[in-house]
Amino acid sequence: MKEKIQSILDPKFSYEYKDGKFVFLEFKEEIVSDSLDKIKTFFKKFIWLYELLIYVIAPLYPSRYYYLKRVLKRTKDKDLVIINLGSGYTDLRDDMINVDLIPYAPVNVVCDITKLPFKDNSVDQIINIAVLEHVPNPREVIAEIHRVLKPGGKLLCEIPFMQAFHASPYDFQRYTYEGIKVQFQNFKNLKIHSISPTGGMLWPLQEWIVMLFSFGIKTLHNILLIIVMCLTFPIKFLDVILQYHPLSKNIASCFIFECEK
Ligand SMILES: C[S@@+](CC[C@H](N)C(=O)[O-])C[C@H]1O[C@@H](n2cnc3c(N)ncnc32)[C@H](O)[C@@H]1O
Repeated sequence: MKEKIQSILDPKFSYEYKDGKFVFLEFKEEIVSDSLDKIKTFFKKFIWLYELLIYVIAPLYPSRYYYLKRVLKRTKDKDLVIINLGSGYTDLRDDMINVDLIPYAPVNVVCDITKLPFKDNSVDQIINIAVLEHVPNPREVIAEIHRVLKPGGKLLCEIPFMQAFHASPYDFQRYTYEGIKVQFQNFKNLKIHSISPTGGMLWPLQEWIVMLFSFGIKTLHNILLIIVMCLTFPIKFLDVILQYHPLSKNIASCFIFECEK
C-alpha cells in the first residue's frame, strides 16, 4: 500500500509519514459541531455496531451498499488505484486508499480533499460517499476528482438532497437531480439513481417532531431524536418499492451516481 500511494503522490506536496499514514495537514483533534455527531463519533469506536445502527435505524433506506458492492465486485483482483475520498471510519477493501481530513484508524492519507496531493491522471476509481455536503467548496473537490482520475477513470458518488442538517464535521449544502447534472457536466456517462424518497420525508419529519417536543433543550432533543428514530425507522422500508417510482427524484433522500472522466 505504501508504494502504491507513493507512486501517485505529487512531489510538490510535502508530508510527514506518521503511524502508517501520509499526513499532509495537522489535524489536532476531531471537530464535532452538532450534538448528534458526538454520539455518532462515540459509536464509530465500535464500527460493526455503528454500521448496523446506520443500516437499520438511520432514516435512509441503505441502497448505497448495493452500488458499493457492485463497484467492489467489478474492481476485485484487478491491480487498480482506487481511492475512497472522505472515507471516514470505513475500510471497504485492503487495496483501497482511504483519504480523509481526520486520521481515523483506516485512513492512509490525511489531507484536505480540495487539494489532493496526487498526480494528474493517476487514479482508476474514486468512491465518494456522503462527503460533498461537508465541504464548503464542492466545486474544488469535483475539479480535483476530475484532475486526478485517468481518462476513462470512474467515480461513484453519493450526495444528499432531502436530509436534515448533519455535521461531519460541518454541513454546507444539498443537491437536486438537475443540479448534479450541472456540477458533473465535465464527466461522461452520468447515471443518477434516486435513493430513499420515504427517507426524504422521514428524516425531516423526525427532526420536526423532536423540535416540537424538546422545548429548545439540547439534551432532551438528542434523547427524543433517538427514541423517535427507533420508533419510526421501519417506515423507511417502503422504499424497497418506492425508490423506483419515476417521481422519487423529487424527494429522494440522496442520489448515488456513477460517471467517468
Ligand atoms: C459523513 S462522513 C462519510 C464517511 C464515509 N464516506 C461513509 O460512507 O460513511 C464525511 C467524511 O468526510 C470527511 N471530510 C469532510 N470534509 C473534508 C475535507 N475537506 N477533506 C477531507 N475529508 C473531509 C469527514 O472527516 C468525514 O469523515
